[in-house]
This record gives sequence, structure tokens and C-alpha cells, in this order.
Amino acid sequence: MATATVPKTTTAPTPTLQTYLDRNVHLLPQTDQLRALHTVVRDRDADREDFVFYAGRIIRLLTEAALALLPFEPYEVTTPVGSTYRGLRFARGLVGVPIIRAGESMEAELRAVVPGVRIGKILIQRDPTTKQPHLYYTKLPDDIADRHVLLLDPMLATGGTALAAIEVLRDLGVPEEHIVFVNFITVAEGITAVCERYPGVRIVTSAIEEGLSEDAYMLPGIGDFGDRYFGTNR
Ligand code: URA
Repeated sequence: MATATVPKTTTAPTPTLQTYLDRNVHLLPQTDQLRALHTVVRDRDADREDFVFYAGRIIRLLTEAALALLPFEPYEVTTPVGSTYRGLRFARGLVGVPIIRAGESMEAELRAVVPGVRIGKILIQRDPTTKQPHLYYTKLPDDIADRHVLLLDPMLATGGTALAAIEVLRDLGVPEEHIVFVNFITVAEGITAVCERYPGVRIVTSAIEEGLSEDAYMLPGIGDFGDRYFGTNR
């Protein structure tokens, strides 16, 4: 009697957090200098001027690191002594997209290093009843599908808002590989949520936190970034 052979099934192993850290996440070098900047902004007693100033310094480092992930093209210049320098220049086609409101804290640093950069906007807020992210508003360049997008949001906690924003960009035809999520602090849950759904998206961050509180604040964390940056907490 013929025996049935069971076809071999091969299932791809589920990527681990470490896979995402190696493949998708660019964590700023954890230097003493960066730790000192973080110490100011994490201090609950920091006044708003210090919070904005030192957060801005970290955002500048994040912005430069994100720009380094974008494509460059060969470009030659003649030096003052008449020699040729075979250099590089940014390939054209960038847009910064802050997620309103906290993401707007990152816009000034991007504008400072890329004058004239195009800026889109996405407003997503969590529905107070369902707790689900709700898309209220978008304003994005018509040709966004042909651009590289720096998606700006300082907080990546549970990942709900980030996923909703990336979905907006994907629906408009932006390839995952053209999206760099520029983020101040994150946590394992947020990284996993984004990278599981969008494995081509890259995340630039300055810190990976220990965990989430019951009400989804990162720990040790920074509190409500938007409130502290814009001064709406007190
Ligand atoms: N949003 C914030 O502002 N802080 C957190 O810790 C998490 C989400």
C-alpha cells in the first residue's frame, strides 16, 4: 500500500526584537554627552527653556543621523587650489512629515539643516473612548510617492500612532524603504509593532526605554513630551 508523504512545510522564523534592532533601528551612539543631554530633559524639575533647548540638541543629532540614511549621488567640485574633489550630494526628493503635535518639535531642527525642505503634516489623535488612533488631517506633497520621507514623532510607545501614519504614507504609494521614522525615545513594544507590520521602515532613535507603564507612558521615560515642549502641562 502506498504511503502518503506529507509535504514539508517551511515556515520562516518569526523575527525577534534583536532582528529589528540589527536590521531596522539606528540607535544613536550612547555617549556620555548624549546621556548628559538626556539627564536634563528627563529631570521632572527641568524648566521649559532647558527642556526645549536640550531636546533640540538631541533632535539635531537625530536629524543628522536620519539624513545619513538617505541616498547620495556623486558630485565633483573644484577646490580653491584647483584640484578636483570627488564628493557626494543629497539625491533630491525629501519631505519631512511631523505628526502633529509632538512631531512639530522636530521640524525646526530639520529646517535648520535642510533649508527649504518640504514639510507635510499628519494629525492623528487617540479616540478618548475607543483608544484607537484616529486620522484627522493630512497635508502632503502631491508627488510624495517619489520622495524619501522623514516621519517625525518624538514618542514611539505602543506604536498605534506610528502605524496609522505609516499607513497614510503607504496608501499614497510611498515605499516602506523610503520611510525613516525619526524618534526621540522608544521601547521594545513600539519597535516591534512598527517593524512587524512594515519591515522596510527604518527607525532612528536616541534611547530605548525599559518598558511601558499601565497608562502607556515609557519608563523611565520623559513624561508627556508635547506638554513639556509646548508648555501645556502647567
Ligand atoms: N507619549 C508621550 O508623550 N510620552 C510617553 O511616554 C508615551 C507617549
